[in-house]
Amino acid sequence: MHDVLYPQSSRWEQVIVTFADLVERAGFGLIISPLLEDLAVFNRGIGSESDVVRKEMYELEDRSGRHLALRPEGTASIVRAFVQHRPNLVWKAWYLTPAFRYERPQAGRYRQHHQLGVELLGTDDPEADIEVISLAGSFYRSLGIEKVKLSINSMGDGQCRPAYIELIRDLLIDRKDQLCKEHASRAGINPLRVLDCKRGECIQATADLPHLVDHLCPACISHFATVREGLADLGFEAEINHRLVRGLDYYTRTTFEFSALKLQSAQNAIGGGGRYDGLVESLGGPPTPGIGFGIGIERLLLAADEEGVLPLPESSTDIFVVDIVGGHRARVITHELRSNGIRAIRSFDNRSIKAQLKLADRSGAKFAIIVGPDEDRADIVTVKALRGDEPQVNVKASLVADYMKGLLG
Ligand code: HAM
Repeated sequence: MHDVLYPQSSRWEQVIVTFADLVERAGFGLIISPLLEDLAVFNRGIGSESDVVRKEMYELEDRSGRHLALRPEGTASIVRAFVQHRPNLVWKAWYLTPAFRYERPQAGRYRQHHQLGVELLGTDDPEADIEVISLAGSFYRSLGIEKVKLSINSMGDGQCRPAYIELIRDLLIDRKDQLCKEHASRAGINPLRVLDCKRGECIQATADLPHLVDHLCPACISHFATVREGLADLGFEAEINHRLVRGLDYYTRTTFEFSALKLQSAQNAIGGGGRYDGLVESLGGPPTPGIGFGIGIERLLLAADEEGVLPLPESSTDIFVVDIVGGHRARVITHELRSNGIRAIRSFDNRSIKAQLKLADRSGAKFAIIVGPDEDRADIVTVKALRGDEPQVNVKASLVADYMKGLLG
């Protein structure tokens, strides 16, 4: 887990504001929901056989003995909220959330990470898949992150997936001596998980397994084809990855992942998601299809670093008010400037002019507004450029906000 301080946090702000702007233009509204949920939400929602639930969840008991967990991801909790409140369909929600997973920490993998995500509930139209996936793709582009690969797969549905699972279960049980230690004993319980395993033995032993997309029913074939065509239509070429079963058990039909080509492959997923047409029902709601994605902010910033985009802002302020007549002038002037939409700061503790000018310079402000005894008597201020070669001028104190607005454009 980690802290994010200013100025690094200003990049987070940029990322979040860009995301909110993009998804709100597409009709998604913000949802804020608790970090703690009843443990059953995740057991039933994500699946008690998934790694996230079995090995990574932060579970606790509250003072009245209820079994709770910190959310390891957003989707199950948001679907819980949907079931509880039953908003009108189609429901489009976006969120920003910390997510907690007891993973082995390393670069790009943390025990608390942060996700920006959307969930769209109430339709199984492939156009919804296209809208959701292309929104994520547009988000990376709008941040200037270009070296991104989109992978896609279909998990089938209740019609076609069970037969495929049986097919590979038998094959995997035959090959269990070739699988990694964990999956040798678990292949029979959740065979799809073996496809997600990143260990060499499992990758090798599953290389020639039949592909799920070759065993889809006609409805899933048509859905998958429309999604791929629609994405291509919008300039998002998706490559099929037959191993993309994803680590959460709620997925049906479309799954997808965006990977940053400049990051190490173990931690290069900068976003992923998929369709979950059975999740609402498994959390006690009426049959309601849905699709969404989550994007990890930390990894997104690592990808941005590798591509040299999203630089730190040069300064957080435009004006530093230097007051050497006691501080009350700076009080009024900063108040006035800020009320006029100008970023303005001051110092405290009655420092010397030299010390205040040094702070002004260090702040990155473009201008200093100086009030010394002469200015104070004449009810004026001195405006001094700290960068650039604007000449020094005196301005009437009551007009300073208007004057500075003009100067800063
Ligand atoms: P996920 O793939 O588990 O999906 O996580 C989404 C993203 O969060 C990943 O692509 C990655 O960028 C980031 N992430 C995950 N774990 C970590 C970690 N330990 N450290 C840093 N970043 C991490 C979900 O969570 C689904 N809820 C997405 C979704 C929404 N599916 C449907 N709707």
